[in-house]
Amino acid sequence: MMRRAAIGTLRRTATAAPELTVPSVTLVDDAVSAADEARLVAQADRWLARTRVQPGHFDRVISHYRELQKPLAHFDAASRAILEPLVRQAFPTDLPLLPVHLLDLEPEGTIDDHVDHVEYSGSHIAGLCLLSHAVMTLRHSETGSAVDLLLPRRSLYVLQGPARYDWGHSIGAHPTFEGERLERKGRRLSLLFRDAPARAP
Ligand code: OGA
Ligand code: MN
Repeated sequence: MMRRAAIGTLRRTATAAPELTVPSVTLVDDAVSAADEARLVAQADRWLARTRVQPGHFDRVISHYRELQKPLAHFDAASRAILEPLVRQAFPTDLPLLPVHLLDLEPEGTIDDHVDHVEYSGSHIAGLCLLSHAVMTLRHSETGSAVDLLLPRRSLYVLQGPARYDWGHSIGAHPTFEGERLERKGRRLSLLFRDAPARAP
């Protein structure tokens, strides 16, 4: 089931121009090993134990989650050794990074369609998906056309260019891909890496 092509078929709305195509997204399968996943989750759980589950709020797009931010330098040496090569792979050299965003979604947690704020973060968003698979829907902001991206457990995705700016992204509670209901989503921990927004000169 998890061996299908990662990007599904584009669902065009009537307003979609003929030249609208599926945005390009980098997806690295098995970006970390099962042992490394366990190490990263243990590190995250030590910090997350001190945070509370947020049921969701009217001005937030995420529900049933805990989150926090930690500079990469605050991770223990073993975690940094896992994450630093991934970051080098995902980002062009020397982009200044924001602290890592740890987002812990409960099985019923959802992320509504949004584009990450352009004043808060830069040109690349890389997400390391731990503990559960999920399906991310990319929705073209102008036309509403949509395409699904299958994010296997332990994969890394990178949104940049049109996928970062012209398409919103969302994650539903019940993953379906190409019309087929997948195994239920479990607890999902994502580590999100973002570069700082470019400052006006
Ligand atoms: C976000 C977001 C996606 C993910 O926190 O803005 O879109 O993979 N997260 O957790
Ligand atoms: Mn986002």
